[in-house]
Amino acid sequence: MSASIEIDNVTKRYGALTVLDDISLSIGAGEFVVFLGPSGCGKSTLLRMIAGLEDVTGGTISVAGQRVDTLPPGKRGVAMVFQSYALYPHMTVKQNMSFGLENIGMARDEIERRVLAAAETLEIGHLLDRKPAKLSGGQRQRVAIGRAIVKEPKAFLFDEPLSNLDAALRGRTRLELAQLHHRLGSTMIFVTHDQVEAMTLADRIVIMNARKIEQIGTPMDVYQRPASKFVASFIGSPAMNFLPVTAWENTATGLAVTTSGLGRVETGFKVTDGTSHDGATLGIRAEDITVVTDGRPGVPLTAEVVERLGDRSLVYGVLDDGTKLVVEADGRSHIKADDRVTVSADDHAFHLFGADGRAYLREAE
Ligand SMILES: Nc1ncnc2c1ncn2[C@@H]1O[C@H](COP(=O)(O)OP(=O)(O)OP(=O)(O)O)[C@@H](O)[C@H]1O
Ligand SMILES: [Mg+2]
Repeated sequence: MSASIEIDNVTKRYGALTVLDDISLSIGAGEFVVFLGPSGCGKSTLLRMIAGLEDVTGGTISVAGQRVDTLPPGKRGVAMVFQSYALYPHMTVKQNMSFGLENIGMARDEIERRVLAAAETLEIGHLLDRKPAKLSGGQRQRVAIGRAIVKEPKAFLFDEPLSNLDAALRGRTRLELAQLHHRLGSTMIFVTHDQVEAMTLADRIVIMNARKIEQIGTPMDVYQRPASKFVASFIGSPAMNFLPVTAWENTATGLAVTTSGLGRVETGFKVTDGTSHDGATLGIRAEDITVVTDGRPGVPLTAEVVERLGDRSLVYGVLDDGTKLVVEADGRSHIKADDRVTVSADDHAFHLFGADGRAYLREAE
């Protein structure tokens, strides 16, 4: 069972403070959507408004075509899983999972059926008689998810459910969650400020910043075609290199852009409305500007730090004008600090952002 979710012109204010400003978003039935953004941008607030734990100041929220922002949480058909698990310490796993259903007076054998089915899905059947204190963090998290599953909600809402787990368990639980989504086919909204979690789990990512949605897109969309400098800096590791533009000129093949660090490069963009280059920024990801060893032309870079990642190396260096740049080198290269290397970029891999931070797009895009 899954449902679409519509958020229309939703605003949230605490007194004079606006936390979310005119947010609109359509989530399809069965979609896995991740809210991603820096701390304090309003991710939890938006999720809590869908769950009914916070009122909306303006706008409407609908689940499966029915307006819910005026309904109490229990009547919205959604279930929320928190970072803190919020399990009852004096109850066993089974009691923790049954409790909410007993409260609404569900028949005992139906409760039993749902709890056993959820326990099997989550592989916690052998833990049903244990109390939370005797569970690992990952097991507790699965119980918390189990408690949501037994409600058979139309949508699951997760608020950073993995952030209390250690790195290895986090990776494994992330995979389990993806499999769970595949199996249940339920609508899921997942809040995180971890871009790897967002990239690996999401059908679509909603990138939020400063009260607004910056971009909505598939993981590859937001990575390859970031709509703003903020998105470009937030998605991808290492972060995209940014160089201030000092001049630009339209040529037959597109916009030639000059920066102090890389000189004049062809970019394939077209800016024909007479906009000035003032305040514009050229962007390039490390993987698109690489150390060349085959005599191709490029610009010199002095390596400062080399990070060896096995399949590739990241070279943190400085261009002759003092601009810092991260570039990629082959995993087998022997570059070390203080080496002078030549780096070369793929013309069509450049990103270009105007003074307002919005991205220019190439015509084919
Ligand atoms: N009850 C409240 N009263 C006043 N301001 C609040 C209240 N709850 C949240 N805020 C503010 O609303 C903004 C958004 O908070 P929210 O918890 O939604 O952020 P978040 O994106 O989930 O951040 P994090 O990644 O740290 O969890 C913050 O500036 C926060 O201080
Ligand atoms: Mg939060």
